[in-house]
Amino acid sequence: MADLVRFDVATEPRCPFALGRGALAELAQLESRYSSSFAVTDATVAKLHGQRIGLATRAHLLLPAGEAAKSFAHLEALLEAMARARLDRQSLVVAFGGGSIGDTAGLAAALYMRGIAVVQCPTTLLAMADSAIGGKTAIDLAAGKNLAGAFHSPIAVLADTDTLATLPAEQVASGLGEVLKCALLAGERELAFVEQHAESLRAGDSAALARAIEFCARLKASIVARDPRESGERKQLNLGHTFAHAIEHVAGYGRIPHGVAVGCGLALACAASERASTLADQELAARVRKILAHLGLCSSIAELEARYACTLDRAALVEAMALDKKNRSGVVRLVLPIAAGDVARDVFALPQDLRELLV
Ligand SMILES: NC(=O)c1ccc[n+]([C@@H]2O[C@H](COP(=O)([O-])OP(=O)(O)OC[C@H]3O[C@@H](n4cnc5c(N)ncnc54)[C@H](O)[C@@H]3O)[C@@H](O)[C@H]2O)c1
Repeated sequence: MADLVRFDVATEPRCPFALGRGALAELAQLESRYSSSFAVTDATVAKLHGQRIGLATRAHLLLPAGEAAKSFAHLEALLEAMARARLDRQSLVVAFGGGSIGDTAGLAAALYMRGIAVVQCPTTLLAMADSAIGGKTAIDLAAGKNLAGAFHSPIAVLADTDTLATLPAEQVASGLGEVLKCALLAGERELAFVEQHAESLRAGDSAALARAIEFCARLKASIVARDPRESGERKQLNLGHTFAHAIEHVAGYGRIPHGVAVGCGLALACAASERASTLADQELAARVRKILAHLGLCSSIAELEARYACTLDRAALVEAMALDKKNRSGVVRLVLPIAAGDVARDVFALPQDLRELLV
């Protein structure tokens, strides 16, 4: 397929990434290298796109749509279904859906028989631009988001942009939260692209989305190749996420889409950077808030509360941030923007300072 964008993610195993219309046509050839395969998806994706992978005639399990899939109960049900389907060490798990399916199916593949192969077939903007790449898998615990997981790199990512045509506006906006994060990390050129194409991105314009997915995926691939286990450089991909995970936790998983929470987290990270005097570009905070508005995203906790009809208790948010995986000894450590293309990692934040940011 000549018109696919292709590059390798230099993980172990090496992971070819294919992006573009019809990328799923390559699944059959990949599967032919394995003894059997088992697909994991949800009812929405199955109904809208199941025919693209011949779902009706293959072994598969439907998990609940969205964040609800990321629980121990569903992970256990999936592992039992894989065992009933008699998967062996040479079998392949096909994760077909958004990041929630990718995270849960990826973790099941990491655990089953101490690890079998998984191919990530993302169907959301967020999963194509971010979650399908890099091998992080996880489910949520009552105590916090993504607290039980494993690193398990996929054997390939097939990002078929034809599937994006059915994505609801809110899920497009959610994906754009992660796209804006990547643009901020990548530098001025990418940030200006998102700024100038905000309306077409928000409207789901396929050319604009494909370009955004490509720069996000390339950025993530290059960072992951240098730091697969997040001991240093990869931490920057968590920009906005300490706030976002706390927001999702306090709102109740699934109420506020992940990328929407990340978008708000970016505005809060800019505000935190201003307060900590790490923000070198004085225009950046206002610029990010403006781009967020153009992308249909929120830049304050109050805005999220109004849009999602919920109360986000400020003390509970600060408490949830203290549980973040990036912390040490309960002290919150943030990734803060300095300017487009530049961040500070591991910046300590005091509970009182965090509380004052959460307006
Ligand atoms: N592993 C990582 O590195 C990583 C990175 C970022 C985010 N994540 C995780 O990804 C999850 C969010 O993933 P997401 O934003 O892809 O959402 P999602 O997987 O929760 O799916 C959201 C909704 O979109 C629907 N959907 C999926 N594809 C569709 C399509 N093509 N058309 C119509 N509807 C479709 C689903 O059925 C679901 O209802 C979060 O749990 C987050 O923590 C993981």
